[in-house]
This record gives sequence, structure tokens and C-alpha cells, in this order.
Amino acid sequence: MRKHTIALGGAGLMLGVSLLAVHAQELTGELPDPPEFAAQSEPVFVSISDILEYKALPEYHEPDWVTSKYVEAGTLPPVAERLPKEPMVYKTANMPDGVGVYGDTMRHVIGGRPEGWNYIGGQSQGWGGIDIGLSECLTRTGPLFMVKADELEPLPNLAKSWEWSEDGKSLTMHLIEGAKWSDGDPFDADDVMFYWEDNVNDANVSPLNGATPESWGVGTTLEALDPYTIKWTFKEANPTQYLYTMAYGTFCPGPSHILKPQHPKYNPDNTYEEYKNAFPPEYMNIPVMGAWVPVEYRADDIVVMRRNPYYWKVDEAGNQLPYLNEMHYRLSTWADRDVQAVAGSGDFSNLEQAESFVESLKRSAEDSAPARLQFGARTIGYALRMNFSANGWGEPDARGQAVRELNRNLDFRKAITVALDRQRLGDSLVRGPFTAIYPGGLYAGTTYYDKASTVYYPYNIEAANALLDGLGLTDTDGNGIRNFPADQAGGGDLEITLLANTDYGTDTNLAEGVIAQLEPLGIRVIANFQSGTARDDMAQSGQFDWSVERQGSEVVSVVQGTSALAPTGPRTHPFHRAGTDGTLDLLPFEQELVDTVNAFIATSDNAERAELMKKYQNVFTENVYSVGLTQYPGALIINKRFANIPAGSPIFMFNWAEDNIIRERVFVPADRQGDFELHPETLPGAPGSAGPM
Ligand code: GLA
Repeated sequence: MRKHTIALGGAGLMLGVSLLAVHAQELTGELPDPPEFAAQSEPVFVSISDILEYKALPEYHEPDWVTSKYVEAGTLPPVAERLPKEPMVYKTANMPDGVGVYGDTMRHVIGGRPEGWNYIGGQSQGWGGIDIGLSECLTRTGPLFMVKADELEPLPNLAKSWEWSEDGKSLTMHLIEGAKWSDGDPFDADDVMFYWEDNVNDANVSPLNGATPESWGVGTTLEALDPYTIKWTFKEANPTQYLYTMAYGTFCPGPSHILKPQHPKYNPDNTYEEYKNAFPPEYMNIPVMGAWVPVEYRADDIVVMRRNPYYWKVDEAGNQLPYLNEMHYRLSTWADRDVQAVAGSGDFSNLEQAESFVESLKRSAEDSAPARLQFGARTIGYALRMNFSANGWGEPDARGQAVRELNRNLDFRKAITVALDRQRLGDSLVRGPFTAIYPGGLYAGTTYYDKASTVYYPYNIEAANALLDGLGLTDTDGNGIRNFPADQAGGGDLEITLLANTDYGTDTNLAEGVIAQLEPLGIRVIANFQSGTARDDMAQSGQFDWSVERQGSEVVSVVQGTSALAPTGPRTHPFHRAGTDGTLDLLPFEQELVDTVNAFIATSDNAERAELMKKYQNVFTENVYSVGLTQYPGALIINKRFANIPAGSPIFMFNWAEDNIIRERVFVPADRQGDFELHPETLPGAPGSAGPM
């Protein structure tokens, strides 16, 4: 029941009484159920062994032009010699349209820009599936949306199998044997160990998607037993959860034969900054384990990739994958990705900015529409995150420090959460049954979500004012803005900066909504709107008071990115990391969250896991760990000419759709192929050379 017991004559009236009155009970209320919105297609649920296996086949095939132009000319070994001993084989029965044919291009449009190709050294490639396509990882999770719930476990990938020791404390993994990087150099445990020792475990390097040694538990070690066998040793028994952390984007090794010579440990002439930046976007033909290799880059225009002649996956007929010869990434905007996909000048989009829903739906509904548009569950969500470090992360000034003290105060967080009208925020993006009120924590509609454990503080502006008054945040100088108490930040105006990503209209629209809704409260929230790369750098280095952002897969799947659900390590969490002395100044409720998440990681008992996540949700939402804003569904837009797109592919669950749809087995039937290849009948050139050969 929603109780409005707080009626105050004016701000500042009877402080003691108002504060007492504003206690938890009165602030909480009934959380409305999200509006009905059924996903438009359901996955066909299968076992992992139905999807793939590793085995040698009697014969292998490749596009005819590869044989005639390269193999017969002696510039490339025959396909059977380029493949590993036992390639990964995708099973025909799991391919919606069966064995495919070679040819054509998938034209992506992205809003990011490549910083360079040193992914493990921390460089972004501009997102939108570029890095997902380049990087192959020990395990894989994107396609898990179609795996039976009771058989859920990451798919093998570069690690083709693994065993746990009797005591559950060590995990031996067998790497794919005889696979090669796209330039023909062998892939083996050296690549894995270079990633682990000199990137993850070198505190001077920050791999792009946030891997730190603690991502696999404190005290975990990794060693190579032979070129194709690695062994993990954990402090706890059976932490099967870490198999998920071995997938994209935390355990995808880079080409050690190319990167190592630039790393300061092996090249004392280089600084860490030089290592990170040693492979600028202009560097072509970086060796990858992924299905396509970058062969052309034009700034603010396009990245073109050609098929990797050493790709190590095949179909059951022995055809080397991928089927698609080329990949384009137009360097434009995320909003343009939707427009182009719907119009047919682009091929793929994750429709994730709610502002584009109505227009995209209208145009895709026409019979002549070139693309299919299919909505999934509500897995896109935004929260307002406050910086919880009070011991120096990001080196705040006096004002910033005073804000962090406030961020750590529950009454303050409650004041902010009840000051926001979430219904209005959602409606400002799109009207209709899409957006749902999001109270924070796990998303409604996902496996571990439990409504009864969710504490919701509905919109209540009077209570917000009373709480702020109670904290002594009053407008002492009469300029309409509340002031810090006299002993904090010189008693100046209560000013808080809000970080948001200008690459996405939704991010800045929501941030502007927050700013506008807090203004009548006497809080001056100042927009700190930055382009994606700059925003990510500021967020990673703790240089923010507050930030509005789209959240990761941990609040959708829980099993992917689990260690980011709480500050389980010094650098695992998005808004609370260790301060200058390396320690985490956790509040008692945060410690409870950490313990709960660690207990979740330590057990694989489903009933116990469900209980732990109820507790997590309860502690999280009761303490307003972050201020939930809105959650809504996204839709996959894909040109109708593509085949083998799995039913019910979500745009975001364990990973993004670029991984989920298994692009290496996507094809275009011969009679529907377009004439889009910019470098037909070419293959990647030598690493660092100017273009395709
Ligand atoms: C960006 C886009 C997402 C998805 C990912 C893939 O974040 O917004 O839709 O394409 O990149 O990395």
C-alpha cells in the first residue's frame, strides 16, 4: 500500500519530526507490474552438444576463389593444413536454415570509433560487435539464450574441454590443438599466458572489458602444463561460475607474437602508454582468432574486414567458416544504425534506444520492408550510479569528496530515489507498453528476479525535501540551491556532476530528465556529457560524482559478469573501487552484498542460488545501491536476406546479439546475395601491411 504520511508546510520545518516521519515504512510502496509485453519469438531450447562438437572430418572445403587464387598459387597452405587437428564443427540440425553457401557481406553501422587494435591492452575498437568478432575467448556465452536452463554452462570455444580435480580446486583446460592466428602463427598456451601474466596480472595494464586477477577469485593462479593444456588453481572448491568469466570480454587472448615485442616487460624502450597505443586504427591486418580480419580503415567512415583464412570452425559438410566473406562497420552514429537497418542500407541493429521504437516499428511493418524487427524481453535498463569511494578513487576535490560522503548516506540516496518520477522518465523516451518502472537491482522478468524481495520507494517529492532538510542540506544563502553543511566543501552550493555518454541519445535524455527532476529540490546537477571513449575513461578511473548509464549483463543473467554485482575485488565494480591506498571502504550493507555474491559464486545449488539472489535484491534495493530509472525491451533488426538467425535471439542477455546470432554461421542464399564486397576475392595481408592481399 502506498502511504503518504508526510505533509510538510515547507522545507526545513521541524527537522527532527520530519526526519522521524520519513522512515522506511512510509517511503516504500507497491511496485507496479511492468506492462504486458510478450517477446515476439521464443528460442528452440537445446543442449550444448546439439550445437557443436570438435572433430576431424574426412574432407574440408573453402570458397573456390581461395583455392584458385591463393592455394594453387602457393601463397596459402591447403585448407586441411590451415585447420586445427579437430576443428569446431557446428551441427546442421541446430542451424535454422542448415548448411550455408559462401559470399556477401554484413553491413554494420556503429556509433563508436576504434582507438586501436590492442584489445587486451585496453583499446576499444568502437563496439557494435567489432571486438566481439575479432576476439575469440576460452569459453562463449552469447548463444546460451538457447540452452536448456538446467544444462546451463558456458560453451567450449578456444578451450574445447575441461575437467575439475577431485577436490574441486583446480580446473584443467584443453585448448584447441593446431589452430592458428589469421596470419598463420600457431595459437597456444603462450598466448593465454601472455594475456594472464602480462596484461591481467600487470597492474599497469587495464584490458578493455575490465578483467582483473580477482575476476576469477582472490588468489587464483593459472599455469601452462604444455602448449595445449592450462591449469587454473582456485582458493575455493568448484567455482564453476568462473567459466563465465572466461568468455567475452574478460578472457580473450591477443596475438602474443605481435603484442609481446611492444610490452614494456620485453621491450624496456616502451612505456605502458606506448604498449597500449602500439596498434593504432591505421595498423591493418592485426592477427585475430575471429572470423574476419580488419583490412581497411577510413577515419569516421568505415572499417572493412575480410574472411580469416585460418578460421578454425567448420560446418558438418567440412566447409570452413565463415560463410560471409566481408564485414563492414560504418563509422556513424548509433541512431543511424537503426535508421539504416530499417531502410536496408545497413544490415543489422540492436534497437535499444527507445526514442527510435515507434518510427522503426512503423517502417518495418510494411510488407516491402527490407528488414525483420523482433522484440525480446526487457533487458535494456538504466540506472543512476553514485560514486561510493570515500578514500580517494578518482582523486576528488573537496566538493567531490563532500558529494561522496552524501552518496554513502542512505537518507540522501532515498531522497534522490523518491525525487524521481520514473513513469515520466520512461514516457519521455517512448509512450506505450515498452518502459517499466525500474527500482534498481536485477531486472524484472529475468531468472533470478523476485518481486517480493524488491523494495520500492515511489515518487514522493515532499519526502525528498524532508530527507534533504534532515541532512542539514539547506539553502543558507537564499539562491535557490541547497548548500553543503558549513564544515563541508566550504558550505558551498550543493552541486553534483552527472556523467553520461553522448554517443547515445537515450543516455543524455535520461540524464537530462534526472537533472530537470532534481532542480525543484534545490540540487544543481551539472551535465558532464562526454563521448563514449572519454566517458568510459572517466568512469574507469573514478572521475565522476554520479553517472547515468546502461547496465551490464550481470543484472540480466546474473551468471555473466557476476563479480561486478558487488565490489568483490578492488577493481571489479562499476561505482566502488579501491582508493589510493588500494583498499575498499565498504559500507556494512555493501559487505553484505559482497558476501552474498561470493556465496553465489561458491555454490552451484540452484535453490541456494535463488535464495542468495533474493537476499541480494533485497539488500540492494532497500539500500538504494543504485537509483534504478527505467527498463525496456530491445529488438533485433536484421535484413531479410540473412539465413541461420536463431529464433528468439535477444539483443542482450549473456552477451549482445552480435555474439548471440553466431555470425560465423550466418549466410545469404545464393539468389539473394548482394553486391556489397569492397575487396572481392581478397584475403588479409601480412600484419601491419597496408591492406588485403
Ligand atoms: C554497443 C551497442 C550495442 C552492441 C554492443 C556490442 O554497446 O550499443 O548495441 O552493439 O556495442 O559490443
